Amino acid sequence: MRALPEELERLVERARAAREQAYAPYSRFQVGAAIETASGHVFVGGNVENASYGATLCAERAAVAAMVAAGERVISRVAVYTEAPELTMPCGICRQVLVEFGGGATVVVASKDGAKVMPLSELFPEPFLFEPPSS
Ligand code: THU
Repeated sequence: MRALPEELERLVERARAAREQAYAPYSRFQVGAAIETASGHVFVGGNVENASYGATLCAERAAVAAMVAAGERVISRVAVYTEAPELTMPCGICRQVLVEFGGGATVVVASKDGAKVMPLSELFPEPFLFEPPSS
């Protein structure tokens, strides 16, 4: 059973609904993600697979792209939802992409039966960050 604070439960529900639109005909593993920004807006994404498997986009990065397209840049919370028997953790590439916009973010991974909440800084403790040289 899940016992999450109300605001995280709402974000998980958005991720659950986003999962229903995921395009995953190859793996049949649908993932939904919902990002809440510092301004309180929510952006969602589902994984988008491709016949050329390496072109697949994960749900988390689809949600980040929607957030950036809307002009937002600061992630405060991320929910990831699957119906796998074990909770699904964000892959390494997604952790790197999330940290670009949300070093201080909280991550909740959830399924029908359970959930786990942790800081992104714990999930991805030593990210690569880059300060572009000033020309
Ligand atoms: N997937 C995600 O959407 N997010 C993750 O963090 C892990 C993996 C997707 C990619 C692919 O469509 C499917 O799960 C199986 O790897």
